[in-house]
Amino acid sequence: MPTDVVITEHLSKTYRVGFWGRKVEALKDVSLSVREGEIFGLLGPNGAGKTTTMKLLLGFVKPTSGRAFVAGMPAGSPAARRAFGYTPENPALHEFLKGDELLVLLGRLSGLGGRDAKRRAGELLELVGLTGRGTDRPIRKFSKGMVQRLAIAQALIADPPIVLFDEPMSGLDPVGRKDVRDLIFALRERGKTVFFSTHILPDVEAICDRVGIITNGRLTDCGKLSELVDANARETELVLGGIGSALKERFAKVARTLERDGQLVLRFSDEEAAQAAAREALDQGGRLVSLVTHRESLEELFVRRAKEARPAA
Ligand SMILES: Nc1ncnc2c1ncn2[C@@H]1O[C@H](COP(=O)(O)OP(=O)(O)OP(=O)(O)O)[C@@H](O)[C@H]1O
Ligand SMILES: [Mg+2]
Repeated sequence: MPTDVVITEHLSKTYRVGFWGRKVEALKDVSLSVREGEIFGLLGPNGAGKTTTMKLLLGFVKPTSGRAFVAGMPAGSPAARRAFGYTPENPALHEFLKGDELLVLLGRLSGLGGRDAKRRAGELLELVGLTGRGTDRPIRKFSKGMVQRLAIAQALIADPPIVLFDEPMSGLDPVGRKDVRDLIFALRERGKTVFFSTHILPDVEAICDRVGIITNGRLTDCGKLSELVDANARETELVLGGIGSALKERFAKVARTLERDGQLVLRFSDEEAAQAAAREALDQGGRLVSLVTHRESLEELFVRRAKEARPAA
């Protein structure tokens, strides 16, 4: 049985804004779990509550209600904090340092000796593709992609078992995004658990073992990608040949039918009904041309959830 290393239980967060303390419900009753060694993607549009979820796990903000655990320990406790590395959404790194200098500094702060910190800094720069470029100029002269890579490297300095990345691919060009994806895979190969947030669908489709969709503070879907999209099969199309008029009439009562190139096309919302019709057609001497179920894509599911969450105008 895989262990759940990140757990939220009915997590809610209401912020207060403005002079009158108006309530903003950023997170509503979110329960999710991330298993040890998996890549979990938290997918949601802008303002959905992704960063708030991360901050609650880090202990940077306190939940209004509910609880969260990291590596079996209450979120925000020193033991929980030791279990993970974190890359924030908009990393602000010490601009006057060079990449290797920053990593050595953070390595020393995390308890490594001077020589170990240097070795670790070198390894991490190589891992994120910054060897050379990371050591010859101060961070203020880094490109956005270089900053993002360094921010990922600094999250790994203490070799934590879990990493939390808030939008790790944002601001990267397609090559940079591919590099970060490969890096996340490499981390999983090393046994790490990766929990990251994004609003970029192909990144989720390419690398996640499991996905949570969050819109307007609520977790609407959570599971393996295949489960999420398979659960939303939309239509099964059955194409038959050699169907007599009596059977045609019967099928017209159970499915939407049309004729195309001398073949009968039937569309069912229920996959099993389509299979039963196919069997019946074959029994009656008909010909099965095709039987295809169109599944909802992740993009369609995501857009539908975002629309459902939007308050009516
Ligand atoms: N410190 C805060 N005070 C008040 N409201 C906040 C605060 N932080 C976040 N919010 C509000 O909570 C909601 C969720 O914000 P959050 O930053 O968690 O979303 P997100 O999914 O990370 O969005 P994005 O994709 O834009 O980064 C938003 O309505 C936001 O304005
Ligand atoms: Mg955010």
